[in-house]
Amino acid sequence: MNSVRTLVVLALACLLLASVADAVASAGSCSSERRCSDDSDCDTSRSDRCCNGRCVAEDQFDLNLGSLCDDNGDDCRGKCRSSLACRSQRCERWRGLAGPGCICDNSLTSGCSNPYTYCDFMANRTVVENRCVWNNLPPGAPCDTNAQCRGNCENNVCVTTSTSGSSCASAFDGTCPNSLACVVEEAPPSVARQCLSRRPVNGYCRDPSDCISGVCDTDSNLCIAALQLEGGANCTDNYACKSGLCAVGTLGYRTCIDRPYSGGQGSPCPFGHTQCQMGYKCVGSPTVARCMNVRGLQCVSSTICGPNAECKCTGGTHYACQAADKPSLNCLTERVEYRKFTGSIFASLVRPWHLYPTDVAEAAAKLLCCEYRRGSFNNNEVKNRYLRGDGQVQPGARLNCRVDPPTWEERKTGDYPERCSLTSEVAFDNIWLL
Ligand SMILES: *[C@@H]1O[C@H](CO)[C@@H](O)[C@H](O)[C@H]1NC(C)=O
Ligand SMILES: *[C@@H]1O[C@H](CO)[C@@H](O)[C@H](O)[C@H]1NC(C)=O
Repeated sequence: MNSVRTLVVLALACLLLASVADAVASAGSCSSERRCSDDSDCDTSRSDRCCNGRCVAEDQFDLNLGSLCDDNGDDCRGKCRSSLACRSQRCERWRGLAGPGCICDNSLTSGCSNPYTYCDFMANRTVVENRCVWNNLPPGAPCDTNAQCRGNCENNVCVTTSTSGSSCASAFDGTCPNSLACVVEEAPPSVARQCLSRRPVNGYCRDPSDCISGVCDTDSNLCIAALQLEGGANCTDNYACKSGLCAVGTLGYRTCIDRPYSGGQGSPCPFGHTQCQMGYKCVGSPTVARCMNVRGLQCVSSTICGPNAECKCTGGTHYACQAADKPSLNCLTERVEYRKFTGSIFASLVRPWHLYPTDVAEAAAKLLCCEYRRGSFNNNEVKNRYLRGDGQVQPGARLNCRVDPPTWEERKTGDYPERCSLTSEVAFDNIWLL
């Protein structure tokens, strides 16, 4: 569930598109107005329903928080989204699934909705009410009990017993003292990690998090500068290239792609599909490979369309290749910086970023604000995911993109009490200030 709540909108969108294309293609008829006599005539893999003789997609009658609902289920009149419950004819948050700082009750359900919180007593353990409190906090974060920290809680601050050279688990496991990173030890082929300083260019590395630059050439196992290699240079990492794209071509090894997704009809593409525009496919042997327009080509599956196009239903009768969305190559500098702390590029709104070390918090804030501004995330999709789809897995901070550099501001329950109510939606501005 945690991963669903990360801001992996791009990746999700790609997966979704791929699976939808496959599912529809195999269904035989591509009419969006499918007739039915009961639910089993509709796409059961998505729990679509048969209403008034026509298939209705599952998400078309999802009800939001606070909407009127019917407990004894005529689903064709709508039903509460899967993260909500229908009680007293209203769609409510699950009572046990509260956000940070809200009252929670472990006996009702599994506890707190934000995956970085747990349900516990407050500081002095004299109050009877449990609240969702942060856990797994890195060194330096405020705390009341050991259970909230990766290490221990001393004088209300999370501390670590690790020192320089202590072993640690992963790129950012939050156990190293704040001046150090969790870096692979210089004893190949060991992949064991220790709390050390990141290495400069030409220093030993196994992955991006080992390097100050944030890029490791995994052929030589040496740190290299980020975003520097020209088109045609051999590479092992997208972010080694100026263009942000290192792709395997028809020659069988990876090179930096100059001007990705730009080749039109007949344009040479010795390094593969990423040299062709969306809606075009690279065809032919390495020496004579050319971009070919596939838009409108009849298809039975996405294979025929290539990775730059999708096999989609057109006009309600047949399938044809249509240009896919261009993968985002925005915010490259921000991605490189953020990736150092995680080993991946996926940031999430629901983490307690405001309690993380400054460099980590800042890298996450810059990446998310940049991606959002440049349109890499679909704004409506972000809003839907956080405000409705996931039943509002509320963060305890607001991302403020109006200041430079962007910051995470702590938001206590008093700042927006609606997040602890059963039926009020949290306004978008409470979690994201653009
Ligand atoms: C601690 O207990 C006192 C009552 O003795 C209460 O007023 C106070 O709110 C409690 N503090 C917290 C953080 O729960
Ligand atoms: C790139 O790698 C290939 C395959 O290992 C090699 O044949 C080629 O010479 C390399 N090119 C450069 C410029 O190093």
